[in-house]
Amino acid sequence: MPGRGPLLSASGLEVHFKLPGESGRLRAVDGVSFEIGRSEIFGLIGESGSGKSTIARAIMCLEPINGGQVTLDGTRLDQLRGKALRRQRRRVQMVFQDPHESLDPRMTVRQAIEEPLRLGRTGSRAARRARVVDLLNRVGLDESYVGRMAYTMSGGQKQRVNIARALALEPELLVCDEAVSALDVSVRAGIINLLTSLQRELQISVLFISHDLGVVAHLADRIGVLYLGRLAEVSETESLSARPRHPYTEMLLAAEPQPRPSSHRAARAPSISGEAPSAARPPSGCRFRTRCRYAQERCVQEEPALRPLEGGALVACHRAEELELTGRRA
Ligand SMILES: Nc1ncnc2c1ncn2[C@@H]1O[C@H](COP(=O)(O)OP(=O)(O)OP(=O)(O)O)[C@@H](O)[C@H]1O
Ligand SMILES: [Mg+2]
Repeated sequence: MPGRGPLLSASGLEVHFKLPGESGRLRAVDGVSFEIGRSEIFGLIGESGSGKSTIARAIMCLEPINGGQVTLDGTRLDQLRGKALRRQRRRVQMVFQDPHESLDPRMTVRQAIEEPLRLGRTGSRAARRARVVDLLNRVGLDESYVGRMAYTMSGGQKQRVNIARALALEPELLVCDEAVSALDVSVRAGIINLLTSLQRELQISVLFISHDLGVVAHLADRIGVLYLGRLAEVSETESLSARPRHPYTEMLLAAEPQPRPSSHRAARAPSISGEAPSAARPPSGCRFRTRCRYAQERCVQEEPALRPLEGGALVACHRAEELELTGRRA
């Protein structure tokens, strides 16, 4: 039954970690709210340590949350346990960054893709095998791959197998956490195109996580910009690129499209001014203020809430209305 409202909603999400040897807690996710619509690609971007993977794990119920709610199609996932949780969790599947590590090298492609079907006790053996071939075709690999061992394949081929595996149980939401970051630029484009066409064909929703704004902007309908465990801005992709509303988004855009020759370099965060402060001790007031060229006294005193602006963007900046930001390099 196709429901109304967003497919997934996270509201006031909190994930804290105890710091070893310290009394304080690291608020890795510190009050994050966003929604992912049906058939929508929602991009999540932010520097290393901003809490992207922790949000993904919280949504997958792999990380206990310290506050807030995660709702899938009207059902509170964070309140489910046992069998009921497993049943709902099938509806959300994940593709990880490292295609080499996420596939068991001693498994054949058939075994890897069939495993979730077997564990989910889906169909007869013959039906499962036919489904494996169908899934392979969907991700652009032919039947000849079924007997291949994972360790004999390239990163791009393995990531296609990982995507096929994630699609096996027909999820409604696919969570891709840096799914293309470890791949060479040319291979990466192929996987991005594959994800785009799969999303169109299957009408699934995607949470696409990356530190690379260029990659996210290529795919996403809307983008959430994360900074030290909080959302700085949530906007439609086009308006975010043309008219960023948060100084941090402006900074990320200004650091963008530089041709990056090496894939290793591309896997790192963009070079932007200053280091992010520790999430264990975020600055008072606006946590971005120590790197913000527009910061004023109010920004030291008062933490800005994420609020709607005219035009539909959500932004957490006291000065959003008066600033005329652009994504162009200064
Ligand atoms: N299990 C854990 N125990 C303690 N701290 C953790 C744990 N997992 C994550 N953290 C901390 O939480 C913060 C957010 O981490 P997270 O992995 O979510 O960031 P990220 O945005 O995914 O970064 P990256 O781009 O490097 O993948 C970091 O400061 C990290 O050190
Ligand atoms: Mg991560």
